[in-house]
Amino acid sequence: MHNVHVITHPLVQHKLTLMRRKDASTNSFRRLLGELSTLMAYEVTRDMPLQDIEIETPLETMTAKVIDGKKLVLVSILRAGNGFLDGMLNVVPGARVGHIGLYRDPQTLQPVEYYFKMPSGMHERDVIVVDPMLATGNSAAAAVQRIRDMRPRSLKFVCLLAAPEGIATMQQAHPEVPIYTAAIDRELDAHGYILPGLGDAGDRIFGTK
Ligand code: URA
Repeated sequence: MHNVHVITHPLVQHKLTLMRRKDASTNSFRRLLGELSTLMAYEVTRDMPLQDIEIETPLETMTAKVIDGKKLVLVSILRAGNGFLDGMLNVVPGARVGHIGLYRDPQTLQPVEYYFKMPSGMHERDVIVVDPMLATGNSAAAAVQRIRDMRPRSLKFVCLLAAPEGIATMQQAHPEVPIYTAAIDRELDAHGYILPGLGDAGDRIFGTK
């Protein structure tokens, strides 16, 4: 599949399996998501541009590499996206964080925005939108559209699990936005849950329900 990156690192796959189990406690689900998002952040930031700067070591002056440009932005799609933030911030502790809240209108079934807060200078930044579950893809596509309208330097979407339906929605709306996921599952059920999946990610992270 074009522009879809499945992160097959054995640690990612092992932790994902532990998270899928229905008997995983809130405590271990949250801890595993934290560990997984750190590992995924490492892969997702692999192609960040570098620039040369002059530095002084205790012995000499040298030209050395640092990340180029303004601080990266992580954008969390509320509320489950927040489960990705701390783990990713372990790898990029200076990143800025934006939040976008969407709910599904019961009549039209379309996503409606109720919250939107981004850092300044979005047009100069690299942006990573995070949401653990890419199910129908409707909220991901709407969130990505809002960010695209701000003309960031680059834009990626990261999830833990993707359904083929969600990938199709995203690729139709935003074919140039790469998707990073730990797995592509079989299908959606009639209620929009990913099968075999891991259940409701927000409920499992926050211990609600
Ligand atoms: N959101 C979830 O939390 N789980 C799913 O399976 C689908 C959407």
